[in-house]
Amino acid sequence: MNTDLKKHWDSAYGTNDITKLGWYEASPEPSLQLINDCKLPKDARILNVGTGTSTLIDELLNLDYKNVIASDISGAALEKLQNRLGSNKNEVQWVEDDLTNPTILSRIDPIDLWHDRAVLHFFTEKKDQNAYFSLLKKLVKLHGFVLISTFNTDGALKCSGLDVHRYNKNMLLDKLGEDFKLVEDFNYSYTMPSGDTRPYIYTKFKRIN
Ligand SMILES: C[S@@+](CC[C@H](N)C(=O)[O-])C[C@H]1O[C@@H](n2cnc3c(N)ncnc32)[C@H](O)[C@@H]1O
Repeated sequence: MNTDLKKHWDSAYGTNDITKLGWYEASPEPSLQLINDCKLPKDARILNVGTGTSTLIDELLNLDYKNVIASDISGAALEKLQNRLGSNKNEVQWVEDDLTNPTILSRIDPIDLWHDRAVLHFFTEKKDQNAYFSLLKKLVKLHGFVLISTFNTDGALKCSGLDVHRYNKNMLLDKLGEDFKLVEDFNYSYTMPSGDTRPYIYTKFKRIN
């Protein structure tokens, strides 16, 4: 576990009103649209990596998904999300782990859907990117889906005070390799609580091998 990074994120969530965070979404509409289009059964295993306090978890439970796994390096974030969910928190599997050095995630059962919004772009070093994609390839089932939304190549250079690595769809295709095909992608302008906008790319891939 990268303890400096964990401290950074625990402090971001511990000291701020979560609805003022620069990545807060009252409703994660683009993610919900992409997930809905996957037409997964309600018992599909859905892993949300770098969940933070995302409202996606509330929405997935509202939609009656039964096997949601919420993971993050920040225990403080997961605890805030659990408090918001109340007793519904028991419907979710919680995993505090580091995507760049996974010790628990690497041992979970295969999944039907990998969802990442605004996490991958924080991995600026090749070794961390490689660890992320090798975990993804280990976990996503054949015919499973990968949804990644990240800062676009014309997006911001920093988020939460940290440098980011920006992507376009071809860069993501390159990282995923021939076992995945691109199903859909679109540009999306996210409006932060401050009113500023951030250009994202949303992508959906399907595992074909
Ligand atoms: C910008 S926030 C996005 C949170 C959430 N996905 C959302 O859309 O609201 C980035 C998240 O990635 C998590 N994160 C950063 N580095 C991580 C790592 N190495 N392993 C797991 N989670 C990480 C942070 O704790 C934070 O919750």
